[in-house]
Amino acid sequence: MSSPLLEAHDLHKTYRLGQVDVPVLKGCSLAVSRGEWLAVLGSSGSGKSTLLHLLGGLDRPDSGRGEIRHEGQPLEGRSARAFDRYRAQTVGFVFQFYHLLPELTVLENAMLPGLVPGGIGAAPARRRVSNLLDRFGLSHRLNHRPRELSGGERQRTAIARALANDPQILLADEPTGNLDAHTGAEILDLLAEAHQSGLTIVMVTHDQQIADRADRDCRLVDGVLSVAEGTEPAPLA
Ligand SMILES: Nc1ncnc2c1ncn2[C@@H]1O[C@H](COP(=O)(O)OP(=O)(O)OP(=O)(O)O)[C@@H](O)[C@H]1O
Ligand SMILES: [Mg+2]
Repeated sequence: MSSPLLEAHDLHKTYRLGQVDVPVLKGCSLAVSRGEWLAVLGSSGSGKSTLLHLLGGLDRPDSGRGEIRHEGQPLEGRSARAFDRYRAQTVGFVFQFYHLLPELTVLENAMLPGLVPGGIGAAPARRRVSNLLDRFGLSHRLNHRPRELSGGERQRTAIARALANDPQILLADEPTGNLDAHTGAEILDLLAEAHQSGLTIVMVTHDQQIADRADRDCRLVDGVLSVAEGTEPAPLA
């Protein structure tokens, strides 16, 4: 069997609030295969966003306590350039609360990842997101600001932005969390379409019905992921 595309082994993450340590992840392990759509379920405050941020390289696990591997290679220890490339081109991130920049237009917001270190550059990103925004039904909104958009339109813009650099893996944090059921279903249809075209997706949600759209789900409880039998990642060599 080929090795998983993305793996987490025994991740620990503790936040420090003043003098108090708040352990959130206490030995989280998971493995995502190429082309798979995995849902991570968990109640509010269970650490879903924390886990997704670690997988996306937006934050790091506690020092020496756990490891993330992409295509079998640890993220830790990569050169700054390789790490930038991972964050910009390997993964695309859909944040829990859109995080669109209010002063930028829809097109400018969506093409931003093309401009960051490791991104594909302004012109290719513009071409790619123009195409995506068109497919997402937003071609008439390119020059609008986020405040002029509905929740669903904002989320479609955020998904186009996450796909700007044509990533291998989409990390989606409650992608329908702020939307009504109908609009949420439309967003999930859009993710399903991207998944059909080969995109690997890790999606976190508190809602079992939403998780049911994924190929497989696992649950984050007390800082640990429970995975269905037979799908645990192999122990570290
Ligand atoms: N930067 C931080 N500093 C301190 N504590 C934090 C920080 N980020 C998160 N936490 C705490 O860690 C715990 C997990 O937070 P996290 O946002 O990962 O949960 P979540 O499962 O995504 O919750 P929700 O479903 O409400 O989005 C919470 O108790 C939260 O208060
Ligand atoms: Mg969260």
